[in-house]
Amino acid sequence: MANSSFSHLIDCRLCVNIDHVATVRQARGTDEPDPVRAAVLAELGGANGITVHLREDRRHIQDRDVELLLGTVRTFVNLELAAEEEVLALAERWRPAQATLVPEKREELTTEGGLDLSADPARIAAAVARLQDAGIRTSLFIDPDPAAVDGSAEAGAAAIELHTGEYANAADQAAADQELARLEDAAARAEAAGLGVHAGHGLTYENVQPVAAIAECEELNIGHSIVSRSVLVGMERAVLEMSELVREARG
Ligand code: PXP
Repeated sequence: MANSSFSHLIDCRLCVNIDHVATVRQARGTDEPDPVRAAVLAELGGANGITVHLREDRRHIQDRDVELLLGTVRTFVNLELAAEEEVLALAERWRPAQATLVPEKREELTTEGGLDLSADPARIAAAVARLQDAGIRTSLFIDPDPAAVDGSAEAGAAAIELHTGEYANAADQAAADQELARLEDAAARAEAAGLGVHAGHGLTYENVQPVAAIAECEELNIGHSIVSRSVLVGMERAVLEMSELVREARG
């Protein structure tokens, strides 16, 4: 998919993260379940994009998966990666339509927190420049903080993905409302700075709608919840149910 078609008619894209299909495969070191087949079924269920995270430790998605997905996916591939030489060089070679830079720690269960743009802004800006020079629309996964939004614009990113983990893990409704307000403020600030607005992490069938309703939000990245439901009802139906919730929330 060409970068120019990112703002096509779909109001808010649902990108399905299929990492955990590969997690089940890697648990036995066999060749099933196959993330490529899962991606095809996700697209049949209405996914608008397929997201995979090529982790440094290759705990789930493997290089070969990305190569096969790039040749199979009919929507577009959003490649999540750390700002590290090895994976940056692969992304430059593969040229997925979109990349999302994420922080990565070996010992974490999943991505914890957004990128720290204040620690080494030049390193992130250089990674963004490399990816965008290769024709890859580049997004930065950040916490919903004003400084992180401003830092993303300064780094030259095309978009941000707002980390929804604090919202998803909120202890009660008041805390969830407070986190939602932070997401809304960050989304408005990002749009005013000319950045595309994506969101994801920890979103489920129960909590997705208030985030999907954020007017500026043009893309949601959802993995664990959809893959979990797909074990019970099948991938196509699991994606269809999520996409209906997103559509309903957009009014
Ligand atoms: N967005 C980013 C940047 C992520 O790293 C992840 C988790 O890999 C997700 C979205 C999806 O999170 P979840 O699996 O909780 O839906």
